[in-house]
Amino acid sequence: MEKNWLNLDDRVFIVTGGSAGIGNSIIKKLLESNALVANFDLKSNDKFDHKNYYFYKVDVTKKNEIERQVEKIWQTFGRIDGLVNNAGIALPGMLVNSDGTGNYELTEEMFDKTIAVNQKSVFLMSQIVARKMVKQQSGVIVNMSTESAREGSIGQGFYVGTKGAINSMTCTWAKELGKYNIRVLGVAPGIMEETNLRSENYEKTLAFIRGMSIEDLRKGYVKASSIPLGRAGKLSEVADVVAFYLSDHASYLSGIITNIAGGKSRG
Ligand SMILES: NC(=O)c1ccc[n+]([C@@H]2O[C@H](COP(=O)([O-])OP(=O)(O)OC[C@H]3O[C@@H](n4cnc5c(N)ncnc54)[C@H](O)[C@@H]3O)[C@@H](O)[C@H]2O)c1
Repeated sequence: MEKNWLNLDDRVFIVTGGSAGIGNSIIKKLLESNALVANFDLKSNDKFDHKNYYFYKVDVTKKNEIERQVEKIWQTFGRIDGLVNNAGIALPGMLVNSDGTGNYELTEEMFDKTIAVNQKSVFLMSQIVARKMVKQQSGVIVNMSTESAREGSIGQGFYVGTKGAINSMTCTWAKELGKYNIRVLGVAPGIMEETNLRSENYEKTLAFIRGMSIEDLRKGYVKASSIPLGRAGKLSEVADVVAFYLSDHASYLSGIITNIAGGKSRG
């Protein structure tokens, strides 16, 4: 494929949570496409040694930090063509543990933290950036959901709950912002190659809740029966869709959430 097919040269994008995993892959793809990319993350990623790469230390749950850095980008570049709300966390736990210990149950602290990082951040980032996009009468916002938000996932009540909320906010803001030539889209990855999201504690907790060993949990991630394409997705396969959505080739797409899950819909 022609290298410059996406036509993203010199476009200005903000990606949240770009120092690892999927966000990292999205930034790589955008830099390869000659875009200017600002990574809003808690920690930097030294792997990107590129003239078009900018790191801003931002906790995306903090309104004042976001406002300050978005303003800096606006003053520096004079435009913001796209925002990818990718930062997210997964804190597993079950609603009720009937073994009497209360271990592995969801807590109020986990609820507040998950809502703040996964959902409130999407509101804050989208509002602050969309105000700029309204001024320039153009822009694209892409929100990172998950395939499991539509069907539920054992041990992931808060995680999929926030992603379900993201789906609804995506569709609503697409309706509100269309008149300013701003598109709002969601992508919903399924089972992907490993990222930091699957920490040791995450896997230990999920395995306990699902009554299986960690080894069986890992094997179960990719069951041919639940993924028609029979394999985990590559992070670059998410990045490809996000880059396409940010480009003018997707100029008539808005208000949809796209599964990137190899055909998986249940399991
Ligand atoms: N990995 C998967 O299988 C998968 C599947 C579906 C959806 N997703 C979604 O994709 C997104 C990225 O997931 P990942 O697997 O790459 O995770 P990851 O843990 O590898 O990376 C997440 C990044 O977000 C950053 N981050 C966390 N909290 C932040 C905060 N408060 N402020 C700024 N940055 C913060 C982290 O520092 C990290 O760099 C998440 O929204 C996740 O829900 C992932």
